[in-house]
Amino acid sequence: MDINTIINILKKELDPYRFNHSMNVMETAEALAKHYGADVSKARLAGILHDCGKNYKGEEAIEYVKKIGYEADEIEILQPKLLHGIIGKHLAEEVYGVTDEEVLGAIRWHTTGKSGMNLLEKIIYVADYIEPLRSFEGIDTMRKMAFEDLERCIVYCSESTIKFILKKGAFLHKNTIDTRNYSLMLIRNRNENV
Ligand SMILES: [Fe+2]
Ligand SMILES: [Fe+2]
Repeated sequence: MDINTIINILKKELDPYRFNHSMNVMETAEALAKHYGADVSKARLAGILHDCGKNYKGEEAIEYVKKIGYEADEIEILQPKLLHGIIGKHLAEEVYGVTDEEVLGAIRWHTTGKSGMNLLEKIIYVADYIEPLRSFEGIDTMRKMAFEDLERCIVYCSESTIKFILKKGAFLHKNTIDTRNYSLMLIRNRNENV
């Protein structure tokens, strides 16, 4: 399926906010891909589709992943919103005909990130945070940092998530912690090697 067909379908499938957010993530991912030498068409495809699983909420999300054989962990069951990346990856394959593993991985991991993300996964993770509709404390620094030091930006994004979750008193998924630690470690090694 070509990306314009996908955009037209998503325009009907997603609510207006989510659709505009997805368009923005696509554009921001494109800019980051150009900046860091990643594949621009993969970045656009992963960007537009990253939240395509967002319509499945609560019990519906839990049921969906059960059906596709994904064993949700206890935090994901307590916070089914965390499952929309897994659902999105499945929809991307089954409904939108995506076969590229990098694109699928970027959709899969965009919510929490994970330890050892590849460049495309990092780009989508960051683009989701900094797209123009987002507004929260520190966003300007984050936007600037995204183009200066992607790794440091990931530390910043994951810390922002952790602070937000703590403030809400919600459960924190360990992948968010892994994301932060991994990028922090890369920065540390980078500095030691200079
Ligand atoms: Fe998302
Ligand atoms: Fe998103």
